[in-house]
Amino acid sequence: MPDTPKLLFQPFTLGALPLRNRIVMAPLTRSRSSEDGVVPDYAADYYAQRASAGLVVSEATNISAQARGYAMTPGIWTPAQVEAWRRVTRAVHAQGGRMMLQLWHTGRISHPDLHGGALPVAPSAIKPGGQAFTQGGLKDHVTPRALETDEIPPIVEDYRHAAQCAKDAGFDGVEIHSANNYLLEQFIRDSTNQRTDRYGGALENRLRFPLDVVRAVTEVWGGGERVGIRISPGTTQPGETPLDNDPMATYAAYLDALSGFGLMYVHDIEGVTQMSRDANGIDYPALRRRFSGAYIANNNYTAELAEKTLAEGNADLVSFGRPFIANPDLVERLRTGAPLAEAPKQYWYGGDSTGYSDWPGLRGPVRLAG
Ligand SMILES: Cc1cc2nc3c(=O)[nH]c(=O)nc-3n(C[C@H](O)[C@H](O)[C@H](O)COP(=O)(O)O)c2cc1C
Repeated sequence: MPDTPKLLFQPFTLGALPLRNRIVMAPLTRSRSSEDGVVPDYAADYYAQRASAGLVVSEATNISAQARGYAMTPGIWTPAQVEAWRRVTRAVHAQGGRMMLQLWHTGRISHPDLHGGALPVAPSAIKPGGQAFTQGGLKDHVTPRALETDEIPPIVEDYRHAAQCAKDAGFDGVEIHSANNYLLEQFIRDSTNQRTDRYGGALENRLRFPLDVVRAVTEVWGGGERVGIRISPGTTQPGETPLDNDPMATYAAYLDALSGFGLMYVHDIEGVTQMSRDANGIDYPALRRRFSGAYIANNNYTAELAEKTLAEGNADLVSFGRPFIANPDLVERLRTGAPLAEAPKQYWYGGDSTGYSDWPGLRGPVRLAG
């Protein structure tokens, strides 16, 4: 008999939000939205089926048309998008769940096909390695266009608008996506930000745009109590160069500044997202100690490692990503030690409700209350 994990299933108060356990569903892009960035009706089933997590974080959601980097991803800037998300939040709340929306701008991790042939934007014109997921399949990334200085404040306003739309859609809060080398992280890292204006150069300048975004979003939500942030200080993706000369100093300064906003949580991808838990020079407990809010640990966690991490006081909550794809009742499976189903990769991105909202629980179809 495996040891029964205990701490994971304890209630936790996150900011002002009471959670029924310490398990978080990590954000998972599933690429099933319309061309207009509207989530399908069956997204409400998918998220509601997983609402037994203490907290659900939505798939990354574009704050504007310019923000898009992947085909069929949802948005949160038009009335139709807000209306569709409202159906999702109602369904999650009907199950007693809590849900954050993840606010996303992909920056250079995009493709002209998503922008009517125009170049994606970035702090500097530096091409990322890898490929973009377009309507026409995978295509090599291109060299993006460096943003003009006066184009940056309007993007902060796009975040403000999207944060308001998320509020209107009934989310419990928003998570600012500042991880995985999307736009915010592209500004933070000294390899991807080679600007010479007030948004580049010294660390203080590289943090200016991300912190302007955090300020705007917290203003909309009445302070930091309903705002979290996701970071990936140890990541090396997309992999062509070391991202940062001194990632620990960079992220220590970032967390110090974030603490000043009284944010609800930092959601930390420890290591290289999905790939490994290699720390790459980051002292995660030290970063955690610098931050005033709660700490959500992520990346390749098992129930055993999660329990150990909580017991050692190195996290407040633990998030699981891939395990939630094929296990809508992941919380129950972790509690009972039941085997986990595996989702074939063909179902991860794109398609319809198959391989998405039709995964059964241990006892057959997941029955929703209400
Ligand atoms: C299919 C898929 C989609 C993902 N989409 C997002 C996303 O939209 N936003 C994000 O911050 N991370 C995203 N991630 C990363 C996960 O949130 C998580 O950090 C990663 O899978 C590691 O956690 P795990 O080992 O529990 O799966 C995605 C990962 C996968 C496998």
